[in-house]
Amino acid sequence: MLKSVILIGGPQKGTRFRPLSFEVPKPLFPVAGVPMLQHHVEECAKVPNMKEILLIGFYQPNEELTRFMSSAQQEFKISIRYLQEYAALGTGGGIYHFRDQILSGGPEAFFIMNADVCSEFPLPEMLNFQKEHGESSSFVILGTTANRKQSMNYGCIVENQQTNEVLHYVEKPSTFVSDIINCGIYLFTPEIFQHIGAVFQKNQQDMLLDEQTNGNGWHRAEAIRLEQDIFTALAGQGKLYVYKTPAIWSQIKSAGSAIYASRLYLNQYHKTHPERLLGPNVSIGTGVTIGAGVRVRESIILHGATLQDHSCVLNCIVGWDSTIGKWARVEGTPSDPNPNDPYAKIDSETLFRDGELTPSITILGCNVTIPAEVIILNSIVLPYKDLNRSFKNQIIL
Ligand code: GDD
Ligand code: GTP
Repeated sequence: MLKSVILIGGPQKGTRFRPLSFEVPKPLFPVAGVPMLQHHVEECAKVPNMKEILLIGFYQPNEELTRFMSSAQQEFKISIRYLQEYAALGTGGGIYHFRDQILSGGPEAFFIMNADVCSEFPLPEMLNFQKEHGESSSFVILGTTANRKQSMNYGCIVENQQTNEVLHYVEKPSTFVSDIINCGIYLFTPEIFQHIGAVFQKNQQDMLLDEQTNGNGWHRAEAIRLEQDIFTALAGQGKLYVYKTPAIWSQIKSAGSAIYASRLYLNQYHKTHPERLLGPNVSIGTGVTIGAGVRVRESIILHGATLQDHSCVLNCIVGWDSTIGKWARVEGTPSDPNPNDPYAKIDSETLFRDGELTPSITILGCNVTIPAEVIILNSIVLPYKDLNRSFKNQIIL
């Protein structure tokens, strides 16, 4: 059985994200249309045998976080819990503090991930890599390549090129060390806690020595950084390996990097989530309101229109200031030229054939209101109409 832990930090973190982080905790800021964390959750939930996702941070439990967790649990059918640190314990201290919760149920391995990264999350690949490298008790860091100058803003990894063992690890070095950087995504076995425990014991002893000078001892012993305190010591011991991914990866520290990360994810959506893209062939006028989960393709939405949540608009022209209610489906039939005929032109079809309206795109005049949960198919709706039910193949006067 496997688990995942996402390190979400707390309110003192994410300062580069202000003022956006005043409105919403940074880990919930939308990237490519969904909360930053949802990308992690979604990939974790896909891994066979993944039993639980734990969020560890020092945010007070809040409404946004609770709402996110309950909707993600439902959507991805996986248990998600929040564990709150009493203070910022660092990237290693939090997981050590909650080790009993992480180990309960007996996972043979677990992922740890920074919340503020955008990635393809090659989790199955990391599991395979762990099996192939060293013993299956080794620890794996996800790595990627950076340029020489930028590498120094990250954890830097020197590997054995034959075995991929991590030979040296330096967190944010001041001079160039390596162009392989730490992506903030790890695969550990329970044995990692012996290594963190040893650092904890040592911190405690060091503190006993200068107890008089500082009262706040417990917190200082428990504040442990995975990078500086654990990885640096484990490097060269035959325990730590780096799996290098050629796939997309970026840190999300600032508002600008959120836009860049959105673009990376949106490019992926063509493969992974075409339903999340508006389009293809959609044009949207000014002042148009598009709700959550709306699907639009092959359509023109004229200015001032409102597409409420989860409505679906296919092959339509939606007139100025019209409103389409929640979960309504407004659909037409395309009248494209025959794609198999290189000289084909678009038909200007007759409106009626055999007394019936011929299937065509659906057109809503201006100020039309379509109620929630109805289907409007192959119809033409004249301006200022308030519809109250579904219609098919009609001209609504
Ligand atoms: N729960 C908890 N408690 N989470 C924390 C704490 C803490 O005290 N401190 C940081 N985090 C979380 C942050 O929210 C973030 O998701 C992650 O841990 C790492 O944050 P930082 O400590 O600010 O490190 P960084 O982002 O500058 O660098 C880390 O990530 C890089 C990749 O993005 C390092 O791991 C680098 O080596 C790595 O290259
Ligand atoms: P076929 O027509 O047989 O290809 O089925 P389909 O569902 O794949 O195609 P359709 O054109 O009906 O839908 C295309 C996309 O729109 C799919 O990604 C659906 O998930 C999405 N979709 C379909 N109906 C709705 C709806 O009522 N609301 C929303 N928001 N999306 C919808």
